[in-house]
Amino acid sequence: MTTFRIAPSILSADFAHLGEEVKNVVAAGADIIHFDVMDNHYVPNLTIGPLVCQAIRPHVQVPIDVHLMVKPVDRIIPDFAKAGANIITFHPEASEHIDRTLQLIRDNGCKAGLVFNPGTPLSYLEHVMDKIDMILIMSVNPGFGGQSFIPQALKKIEQARRLIDESGRDILLEVDGGIKIDNIAAAAKAGADTFVAGSAIFGQPDYKAVIDAMRTQLAA
Ligand code: DX5
Ligand code: ZN
Repeated sequence: MTTFRIAPSILSADFAHLGEEVKNVVAAGADIIHFDVMDNHYVPNLTIGPLVCQAIRPHVQVPIDVHLMVKPVDRIIPDFAKAGANIITFHPEASEHIDRTLQLIRDNGCKAGLVFNPGTPLSYLEHVMDKIDMILIMSVNPGFGGQSFIPQALKKIEQARRLIDESGRDILLEVDGGIKIDNIAAAAKAGADTFVAGSAIFGQPDYKAVIDAMRTQLAA
C-alpha cells in the first residue's frame, strides 16, 4: 500500500509567527514541511533562506523538504544542509551541471531531487535516475502560492510514476501547486505520493480539519 505524505508549504504561513505555525501544522498531522526558496532571479519573488530553516529546525520533528527556486543552485546547498534540511530539490534549468548538483546534495547528507515546471520535460531524468530520491512535479508555474492547479500535470505525474516503477528505486513523487481537498485524489490516482499544499492548509483556521479531509480523500 502506498504511504501518502502531506507536505504543507510554509509559504502561505503567517511569517510573523512562523515558529508557532510550523509547530501547529506538525501537530495537525503534517508529514513533511515544504520550504520554498525564491531568489527574485530564477522566479519573480523573494522568500526565505538557510537562516530561517535553521530557526524552525528545532521546532519540527518531521523532515524539511527544501524546494530551491534559485539560480545558481550549488553555492547555497551546503548552507541548507547545515541548517537542517533533509531533502533538497532544484530545477534542472537552474543548474549548469545537474549530475554534479545532485551529487553535491547527497555529499552534504541530504536526499536529492529534480523539480519539473509545467513546460519542462522529464527527459532530464534519463541519465541521473540513480541519484534521484524525489521527483517534484509542479502543477503551477513556480513563484507564488495560491495559483490554480494545471490539469496537464496529471499526465506528467503518470509519466513520472512509470519511470519510477521502471527504475525499481525508492523515489518519492511529489506534486506542488494548487493542491486542494477536491483534487488531491486525482493527483494520487495519477501516481503522486507526496502532496504539497500551501494556501489550502494555511488559508483555513483549522489545519487538522484540512489535513484530515485530504487523508480521507486519499483513503477513498
Ligand atoms: C510555488 C511553490 C509552492 C506553493 C504552493 O512556487 O513552490 O510550494 O507554495 O502553494 P499553493 O498550495 O497555495 O499552490
Ligand atoms: Zn514548492
